[in-house]
Amino acid sequence: MSNTAAPISNRWTRLVGVQHPIVQEGLGPFRTPRLAAAVSNAGGLGTVSMPGMPEDIESGARTFREHIEECASLTERPFAVNIPVGVDAAGKVLPFTDSYIRMVLEARRSDSEIARRLTVITTSAGFPGEYVAMIKDAGMIHQHKVGTTRQAIKAAEAGVDVVLAAGFEMGGHAPAAKVHTYVLVPSVTEAVDVPVLLTGGARDGRGLAAALAMGADGVAMGTRFITSTANSDWHPAYIQALLDAKEGDDVAFDGVYGPCRGLRNAASEALLDHTSGDAPMDPVALVRWKIESMQRAQTTGDTANSIVMTGQVASAINDLVDVAEFVPRMAHEAADVLRNLVSSITVAEPALARA
Ligand SMILES: Cc1cc2nc3c(=O)[nH]c(=O)nc-3n(C[C@H](O)[C@H](O)[C@H](O)COP(=O)(O)O)c2cc1C
Repeated sequence: MSNTAAPISNRWTRLVGVQHPIVQEGLGPFRTPRLAAAVSNAGGLGTVSMPGMPEDIESGARTFREHIEECASLTERPFAVNIPVGVDAAGKVLPFTDSYIRMVLEARRSDSEIARRLTVITTSAGFPGEYVAMIKDAGMIHQHKVGTTRQAIKAAEAGVDVVLAAGFEMGGHAPAAKVHTYVLVPSVTEAVDVPVLLTGGARDGRGLAAALAMGADGVAMGTRFITSTANSDWHPAYIQALLDAKEGDDVAFDGVYGPCRGLRNAASEALLDHTSGDAPMDPVALVRWKIESMQRAQTTGDTANSIVMTGQVASAINDLVDVAEFVPRMAHEAADVLRNLVSSITVAEPALARA
């Protein structure tokens, strides 16, 4: 069987115009233009991640645009950007979100090469209501990541095109409601008519097949793509720490937008127990401390004292995959799982089963 064919196509692959229902989701506050391009070139949907929230937001937006330009120079295929919707205590959207979304729309307006490839925007964290019309008017596909069925319904009613159902086992910024994928995904797919992607815990074709069985249209992964050879932007020690992780080595602590999942170490312990470590008490300083700590882990490989974000699935990942080979293989594996399931068990005809 040719690995370039599309073994699974559905309404989501047709909507986005990709071969495989497999997404490399946002991995902020890190650089991911090369990883995103590799995933898109492999037939999935790669995502350029938000670069963080520097004090100078305009400089953050410039960095973000450079990453988008780099990705666009490396692939001819569709790719996405991820922008978390930060909100303040009064529910007002934070300036970095507004500035990053406007930068993306302006980048597409001013550069037809970017507009042709950057066709999807994935928002996460807070409710993106005020941006839905703006994103649609710009001709982009709007995906939004949620952690509850109620949020999924609200997003679909607001007009988003795709919902990502995020289970608590996911890496990085995890949903405050702490619902796991196996509970959340069937509830979300039942509740909304738009395509749904499972995010959290997927690592191979079995996970994709399970997501499809639960009514989802694909999977969006983070940890599996960090542990790949295309991911040259991460320090090798960070990647090795994920490969070495065992069940129980991860923990959810207080993150930037809510809970955050990462490895248990001195940095996450300091966030679990506010009396230890050097985490500052002032809330604004604390957010900056966390982001710097996350970026330090990625760039210097300090996995003992900096925040190492990862999903629970790291405990089941022991090898680096080559993205070009992995993405089509995963889609073929999922198709094989679904075919073999029907041939390896006896499923009674509906009329007989009910008799
Ligand atoms: C290192 C890391 C950084 C992440 N950063 C973001 C982010 O900036 N925005 C976001 O919406 N999700 C973020 N996530 C969540 C991922 O987009 C994805 O939903 C998650 O990794 C799925 O779970 P998995 O790791 O089990 O595949 C991050 C995850 C990781 C592991």
